[in-house]
Amino acid sequence: MPQETRLQTRPLHPSLACEVEGMRLWEPLDAATAAQLQALWSQFGVLVFRRQALGEVELAAFCALFGPLERTVRSDWASPSVPEVAVLSNLHDGLGRPIGGLGDGELQWHSDQSYMVKPATGAALYALELPPKGGETFWVDLRAAYAGLPRKLRARVTGQRGIFDYTKRLAGYGRDSDRKLSDEAKAKTPPVTHALVRAHPETGERSLYLDSTTTTGIDGMDPISGPELLDEVYDAATRDQFVYAHQWQVGDLVLWDNGFTMHRRTPFDPSARRLMKRMTLHLDPKRHVSPDGALAETGVGMPV
Ligand code: OGA
Ligand code: MN
Repeated sequence: MPQETRLQTRPLHPSLACEVEGMRLWEPLDAATAAQLQALWSQFGVLVFRRQALGEVELAAFCALFGPLERTVRSDWASPSVPEVAVLSNLHDGLGRPIGGLGDGELQWHSDQSYMVKPATGAALYALELPPKGGETFWVDLRAAYAGLPRKLRARVTGQRGIFDYTKRLAGYGRDSDRKLSDEAKAKTPPVTHALVRAHPETGERSLYLDSTTTTGIDGMDPISGPELLDEVYDAATRDQFVYAHQWQVGDLVLWDNGFTMHRRTPFDPSARRLMKRMTLHLDPKRHVSPDGALAETGVGMPV
């Protein structure tokens, strides 16, 4: 029998992030509970479930309640058992090969898939092993950040499109294995543009769409003033008051909406162990902010 759940929630931040308590996500969920969770995700942007005991099949089945799962271009990070699951870890297998992506390095403020024309904005991260310190993850609410922008800066960014390029993200990775990309994946990740301000499809609430690890400039602006404007926006958007800092525990499952958040991760001791399992999925564009990507036209944004 599917479980009947009365959801107990606990806010973790004034506008972003809420914990859903008492769930046993390895058991089937009834449709009413799934609908409540969908609404919570759309409202809070970050959902936290603690003390979960999930195999990869169960993790994938739970995430698929929220939208079609995506196999990302990082097929080299895919789990050998369930290919929609990505393994993120600094650990190595018996032959010394990395078992997953991202190693122990720092990750600057970013949103996942911003380098795609149609980013899959739903993400889930499930913690299996954690270092004693470091490897902390922070999320920023880009609705609150938009509302808090100085009026003049908001006017300068409105109507602009950022240029998002995966090659910039790759160059920032600490490990050779993460910087390397198959030709097939390269062909799928040419530079794209997205509007920097988006509205929620139901509430109309505006938010920024950003990724400091992929933005190289602003469409139609010169290569000095575009990045300068972006720097000002990143400074204003990532103030502490908009940020939720997650305290990881083994068994945590965190879901987030990349349509109106960015996240970052601190580095950790390479001799410590960190193992996370990661899902990517397409959230419903009728209920979640979705970026409006287009291929970047070469030549646009060059000096006149
Ligand atoms: C991700 C990511 C951060 C972390 O999964 O997209 O950025 O804490 N992970 O590992
Ligand atoms: Mn990420």
